[in-house]
Amino acid sequence: MATITTDVLIIGTGPAGSATAALLASYGIENMVINRYRWLANTPRAHITNQRTMEVLRDLGHEVEAEAYMHAAHQDLMGENVFCESLAGEEIGRMKSWGNHPLSKAEHLLSSPTMMNDLPQTFMEPILFGTACRRGTQARMSTEYLSHEQDEDGVTTTCLDRLSGETLTVRSKYLVGADGGNSLVAEHAGLPFEGQMGVGGSMNILFRADLSKYVAHRPSVLYWVMQPGANVGGIGMGLVRMVRPWNEWLIVWGYDINQPAPEVDEAMATQVARQLVGDPELEIELISANTWTVNNMYATHMQKDRVFIMGDAAHRHPPSNGLGSNTSIQDSFNLAWKLAAVLKGHAGAKLLDSYSEERAPVAKQIVTRANQSIGEFGPIFEALGMAEGVDPEVMQSNLEARTGSTPDAQAQRQAIREAIAFKKYEFDAHGVEMNQRYDSCAVEKDGQPDPGFEKDAELHYQPTTWPGARIPHVWVFDHDTGNKHSTLDLCGRGEFTVFTGIGGEAWVTAALAVSAEFGMPIRCHVIGPRQTYVDHTGDWARASEISDTGCLLVRPDQHVAWRSAELPADAEAELRRALSAILSR
Ligand code: FDA
Repeated sequence: MATITTDVLIIGTGPAGSATAALLASYGIENMVINRYRWLANTPRAHITNQRTMEVLRDLGHEVEAEAYMHAAHQDLMGENVFCESLAGEEIGRMKSWGNHPLSKAEHLLSSPTMMNDLPQTFMEPILFGTACRRGTQARMSTEYLSHEQDEDGVTTTCLDRLSGETLTVRSKYLVGADGGNSLVAEHAGLPFEGQMGVGGSMNILFRADLSKYVAHRPSVLYWVMQPGANVGGIGMGLVRMVRPWNEWLIVWGYDINQPAPEVDEAMATQVARQLVGDPELEIELISANTWTVNNMYATHMQKDRVFIMGDAAHRHPPSNGLGSNTSIQDSFNLAWKLAAVLKGHAGAKLLDSYSEERAPVAKQIVTRANQSIGEFGPIFEALGMAEGVDPEVMQSNLEARTGSTPDAQAQRQAIREAIAFKKYEFDAHGVEMNQRYDSCAVEKDGQPDPGFEKDAELHYQPTTWPGARIPHVWVFDHDTGNKHSTLDLCGRGEFTVFTGIGGEAWVTAALAVSAEFGMPIRCHVIGPRQTYVDHTGDWARASEISDTGCLLVRPDQHVAWRSAELPADAEAELRRALSAILSR
């Protein structure tokens, strides 16, 4: 039996596995990724791509970020989240979503150098996978993970080459299970989970049809349809989702999980499409159809010694809020630099414990949020008098009733407006997407109290440099060219970064000394007048929450590792102490 060796073996080429491979390859770490199929995602499941994910792509390189925008539907086309009886039928209401409300757009612009967009998984995966392969990842398709065993020095994984039928073993220092919602790696590693699988049933119907006349005047990725059966199983309501504007679509329609999954053939797909579009003559070109289950389960621990799980392997939930692929890619950003630091000898192995400490709470949070969002369709059904299920006659009479001039009709209109507006917790939850703050052995708190959240933490991103938070984005300016650069662009790319200001030059000297001692690069920026980067607007002075002589130490994943408000008597000793603790040296 052939044995292949590599530093990190990754199971799965989905968003999680491909992003991990791309990041590790970018950091110069030998890695191999396998996929049981011959190619990547063949259906456009994930699509909503949030700013934090785009920041990971930007960190991989401006060309990677640019490729994503090139294939994506722009944010402007995402925004009119419509609730209706069918696309051709009466509109019940709508809400501006995904950062398209002017107030929300301002928050997006202030938070990140990137833009939210709609990038179907069929486009995202080739970008990440291609980046990985171009940068050195060994990819093996049609290769199925079967089992693994680990010892003190590494992991031995047995795989099946599905082309030849032969088994092969891979000996790696670490194993990453990015093998999706039915993860065998998680099962074999015996990792603990909470929650339940299969709490609802759903079907996807992917088809081509030009629906411009129903949607182009109210561009959106999601059109929510209220019809008989709309609140059975599924994701809260019938959904017509734009895949490509406006001629490729995915219908998501629920079924009762207590019944056998339906056989979705061409006739059934056409009938569901006609019903939700509201056009009995509609002709569709069916691309594919499949069923899937709504899950509510997360790992409470994501590591077993040398084995890690990430993505859907660790968090299994419905697509509500569009968090699955996003969180998967963000998991990889958290783990990849830590693996690289340990493999390069910069950090002790204990640093890897921080992965689960930091990401397991995120897994719980997003699984809970996504499932809660399904329930939050309830008030819309209630406001239309259909809490018990959609009856077309009741629906028609209630839609009729809401047009009246009576106090009851006014109250009903108010209830519908409020119920729809409340869905911002699913369709405009910027805080859920951006507010991840870590507390782990890879963060040195500075003794300052937790700043908490002044606004609703699910709806609004709130920047801080409190250790554990992502470094705030502001634009600073190149002294020579005048070009603007995000503070996020000044850090990351696999390295720690020190930020200080005029009077804090001792931090640079300290970083040089610690860098030489630890044998790892530390990037330094002194921001101020006549420095390489200038804070013309004063935004950095306000956002950094330190004085000019203070220091922010930022991890390769752009989260603040430690900070010092002022210059201490011995900057070098302080920096060495903090970095040693963070890296478990
Ligand atoms: P994923 O399941 O994508 O990949 C697993 C990989 O492992 C695959 O390559 C598979 O072949 C491989 N594999 C599995 N077992 C193996 C074995 N034994 N051996 C070898 N290879 C194996 N998310 C989001 O962020 N925004 C959104 O808008 C949406 N929308 C959305 C809509 C719909 C309808 C669905 C069903 C889902 C979404 N999602 C989403 C969720 C998103 O699709 C999901 O969270 C990600 O695909 C998870 O990525 P992973 O890489 O973790 O697993």
